[in-house]
Amino acid sequence: MAESGSSSSLHLPSDPKSQKITAMQQTAPMSSSHQKMLTRHGCSVSILSSLCLFSVFVVFMLFGHFCGQISFSGLDLDMEKTKVTPYDDQDRPLRNGGFSTGFSLNQSGHHMVAIRKKAKLSSEQKLEQGLARARYSIRRSAASKLKLSAATLLKSDDFVPSGVIYRNPAAFYQSHKEMVKRFRVWTYKEGEPPIFHVGPMRDIYSIEGQLIDELESENSKFLAREPEEATAFFIPVSIVFIIKYIYKPCVDYSREPLQKVVKDYIHTISERYPYWNRSSGADHFMVSCHDWAPEVSANDPELFKHFIRALCNANTSEGFQITRDVSIPEVHIHNKNLDIPRLGQPPNKRLIFAFFAGGDHGKVRNLLFRHWKNNDTDIQVHEYLPKTANYSRMMGESKFCLCPSGWEVASPRVVESIHAGCIPVIISDNYVLPFSDVLDWSRFSIRIPSAKIPEMKKILQAISEEEYLAMQKRVIQVQRHFTLNRPAKPYDVIHMVLHSIWLRRLNIRLPL
Ligand SMILES: *[C@@H]1O[C@H](CO)[C@@H](O)[C@H](O)[C@H]1NC(C)=O
Ligand SMILES: *[C@@H]1O[C@H](CO)[C@@H](O)[C@H](O)[C@H]1NC(C)=O
Ligand SMILES: *[C@@H]1O[C@H](CO)[C@@H](O)[C@H](O)[C@H]1NC(C)=O
Ligand SMILES: *[C@@H]1O[C@H](CO)[C@@H](O)[C@H](O)[C@H]1NC(C)=O
Ligand SMILES: *[C@@H]1O[C@H](CO)[C@@H](O)[C@H](O)[C@H]1NC(C)=O
Repeated sequence: MAESGSSSSLHLPSDPKSQKITAMQQTAPMSSSHQKMLTRHGCSVSILSSLCLFSVFVVFMLFGHFCGQISFSGLDLDMEKTKVTPYDDQDRPLRNGGFSTGFSLNQSGHHMVAIRKKAKLSSEQKLEQGLARARYSIRRSAASKLKLSAATLLKSDDFVPSGVIYRNPAAFYQSHKEMVKRFRVWTYKEGEPPIFHVGPMRDIYSIEGQLIDELESENSKFLAREPEEATAFFIPVSIVFIIKYIYKPCVDYSREPLQKVVKDYIHTISERYPYWNRSSGADHFMVSCHDWAPEVSANDPELFKHFIRALCNANTSEGFQITRDVSIPEVHIHNKNLDIPRLGQPPNKRLIFAFFAGGDHGKVRNLLFRHWKNNDTDIQVHEYLPKTANYSRMMGESKFCLCPSGWEVASPRVVESIHAGCIPVIISDNYVLPFSDVLDWSRFSIRIPSAKIPEMKKILQAISEEEYLAMQKRVIQVQRHFTLNRPAKPYDVIHMVLHSIWLRRLNIRLPL
């Protein structure tokens, strides 16, 4: 219930107000009407806001305005994630998105019981206090919309995000910084290759293998040496390789074998270690680019209720939840050295208005081909390119690159367009774009629902030259976030994926 959401950000020892609030909670669990009040005023329980809470209990009217100001638009992740399953026993820590407060409600939820031995409590608490500080500093940056000072900019050797492609550059800067400082991932050692610990490193699913490999790497800046040091736990399973090795020969498309492998793994680690149970999986994650990956959790929604799934197939009609799951881009790697061709021409040399080449599969593409294949010289829709044509070069000579959904919502063309300096035209339904917590896609891409495919030319022609030029510049600006480096570098695609996971682990309100 409501109590569960509160503690994570309230245990900053330096803040006398938070101690007061904790005391208040002990005597007065929040009623649901309080909870509603909080939500309506945009300061949910686990948000920053010892201040907000304080205001509710003590001087609500006085602080209400301030709380309203520091709330963000968008989703309230906290409420979603902190709906607590009934406690099985007294030893179960309070789940609050930052769960290890070291206290637990008893079954009737009436009072708090200290449950941890002193030593353990302090190590867990230290991590949680660090996370509480991170939440606080991110929210403060987000709220103030601080322009980063010239001094910060000068001092920093690092990249500093700025401009309209970001929803809130200061919050993002702060959040990335906190992530580098505090996000440490423990990868479970159980399981053997080829379906655990390795994944595809090339081709359209390569982001899956690259992320697994990076997280397993000794070079990763986010490596936790010990599980006690971890702020998140990685389930190192490759869905692509399960399908490659277990569905062989592939005569049966039942998802059962796939589901069984992942479920068995989670059972093993939740028997062996305390980490899954203490959070019900809310600080655990997996990554996969396979179309079937969303179905791993389909036969046991309760087990996976809080588990963070980082997926290419981010289809909200297939159970993708933006507050819990992470959308990752498809990155098509052709060759050994990770290079994605960058053959972008300057805007005045882009002679193709709109371009697509690819297979005719899935409903969206059927519609696209029906309307535009061989129909129009401006909208070039090819099923197969002639042998002499060079796909990457053509993208680099186009103003708009069409990225329709195929068998699944995501398309490697989004990243290819960005690298080609071509404005991605995303034609999909129910697709959550990668990194939308921090990137404002409307500034550097065009979104067209499949129903509007017939009007596509009109929509694209309505974009003025000036607007196009501004967008094209921003596409170049955003390239860094879709660049794959090994080892990963700040603000590259791997950092962006981890940052999305980090935000969900923090249980912070999204978008930033
Ligand atoms: C929980 O605490 C309340 C209030 O102290 C008490 O009445 C109740 O018996 C306790 N429940 C359990 C399961 O310990
Ligand atoms: C975690 O919970 C499961 C299911 O309730 C239980 O079987 C398992 O023993 C628990 N693990 C630990 C380490 O206590
Ligand atoms: C496309 O052209 C670029 C640059 O001219 C070249 O490097 C690349 O190999 C070509 N790709 C193909 C598939 O021919
Ligand atoms: C998204 O999911 C829905 C529901 O399963 C499905 O009908 C739709 O085809 C999916 N979209 C794509 C592009 O696969
Ligand atoms: C070409 O596209 C236009 C606009 O959608 C449509 O009106 C026309 O019927 C199409 N022509 C063909 C041959 O499909």
